[in-house]
Amino acid sequence: MEIKVLVIEDEEYDVQRILRTVEPFRDTITVETVVSNGKDALEFLRERNHACDVIIMDYQISGGLYGEALIREIHAIDPTLKIIIITKRTINKSNIQFANELIQTGAYWFGTKYPADIEDYIYQPTDFNLLILNAYNQRQSELRLRRSQGKFDRKIVTILQDRPLLGQSSVMIDLREAIARYAHASANVLITGESGTGKELVALHLHYNSPRKYENFVPVNCAAIPKDLIESELFGFVRGSFTGARDGKKGLFEQANGGTIFLDEICELPLPAQAKLLRVLETGEIDKIGRNKSYRVSLRVLAATNRNIRKRVAKGQFREDLFYRLNILQIKTPPLREHREDIPELLTYFLHHFAGEENRIPPRVGQSALDLLSTHDWPGNVRQLKNIAQRLIIIAPDTIREEDVRRVLTLTKSTPDPDFGGLLKSAEILPWKEADRKFRRAYFRYVRSQCRTDAEAAQKLNLAPSNFHRMCKDLSLK
Ligand SMILES: Nc1ncnc2c1ncn2[C@@H]1O[C@H](COP(=O)(O)OP(=O)(O)OP(=O)(O)O)[C@@H](O)[C@H]1O
Ligand SMILES: [Mg+2]
Repeated sequence: MEIKVLVIEDEEYDVQRILRTVEPFRDTITVETVVSNGKDALEFLRERNHACDVIIMDYQISGGLYGEALIREIHAIDPTLKIIIITKRTINKSNIQFANELIQTGAYWFGTKYPADIEDYIYQPTDFNLLILNAYNQRQSELRLRRSQGKFDRKIVTILQDRPLLGQSSVMIDLREAIARYAHASANVLITGESGTGKELVALHLHYNSPRKYENFVPVNCAAIPKDLIESELFGFVRGSFTGARDGKKGLFEQANGGTIFLDEICELPLPAQAKLLRVLETGEIDKIGRNKSYRVSLRVLAATNRNIRKRVAKGQFREDLFYRLNILQIKTPPLREHREDIPELLTYFLHHFAGEENRIPPRVGQSALDLLSTHDWPGNVRQLKNIAQRLIIIAPDTIREEDVRRVLTLTKSTPDPDFGGLLKSAEILPWKEADRKFRRAYFRYVRSQCRTDAEAAQKLNLAPSNFHRMCKDLSLK
């Protein structure tokens, strides 16, 4: 370890005392240079980057630039430089207040010089050198923190670049403005909008543009967690709190502590879990199953739904008090049919994206193909456009023509198999068990083809997601 020191001192006698004090530690501490005024010190620091770690600075020096003003100028060059101030005893202000002001301005430490007539040293040598050592260590850990934060910053930039929120229409510009405004608030946000309009994307951008961006972003799909597991998934449990709880589990809220939790499809949260969530939002504390002491969390809650949540509140299916807690700030994502002018940009982006994944040149898009895409109604919004782009790359690798678009658009409205896997055309009468299985298999397949996610399929069938999953497995569909 080599600690490089800059000395700012204008009295030759005191310079000698400083050099004498650090002399026994010459293996570790090197005085790089000695300057007698603030201007020379700044010049040295500007010209010789990283030339020193610690500055020993006399408070009263000639040349006009000294004290607090000099500390500020030095920190403008490098805020991690550690400054130790030494002064004579003859300071007018009371010492405590004086030292305090210096430290508030950014000095690392403050010491009173030994009286010159009785001492060869500037300060007790062990204490003085330890002070330099500690200052150096603190600077090193600050530098490390800055480096890793720099790495995080670059990572966040790539996260956002990989998932851009595109569109130059006025509704999309408004949306990005709302995100920029709300990202810095700590209030909860309710994001509403049709399926596929980018609610999750908005949540991601809110988090990574917020002061919490270095902390966790934890997305939770409330529809995908089986009802009886919701509480333990969200809030966790401690070891041995119920049969089978051999290891404890960190809940999602605990994982998101300090950061952001994104509660997607919030309307699917059953009423008992809604009550628990409300308590967490009101008190900032979570009650882990099996623990009598609650656990404090500080996080931001973003929630999203594609349902009419107010209607649910009116029907008593969603707690009104919880709704108000979540709905402090609102963002509404517009359906694609309300910003059709963004379709060309979105399409180009998705075509490049999918072509890039396959190392191909993106296809050209014929004008009439683009016209057809631009007038389509897009019930599945941007997600549907994205899926269509992916299919177009496969069926029209060079040029996308109008008929290609017609083909993929009708493909999305897949028609049900009218005869359940040949069940009704077969001359043979099958045993009921077999026919029943055939029917159920065909019907489940049809329903899944009409839904984006299994959670949605389960919901449409009015089945618990866990039951739906099990039934699919029984029917060899998973
Ligand atoms: N403005 C946009 N720019 C770029 N991509 C977008 C935009 N809007 C949506 N997408 C993309 O469309 C897809 C669907 O978006 P997202 O999952 O955020 O929708 P959602 O509103 O959460 O839908 P759902 O209600 O069905 O969950 C994602 O791949 C997303 O990246
Ligand atoms: Mg979503």
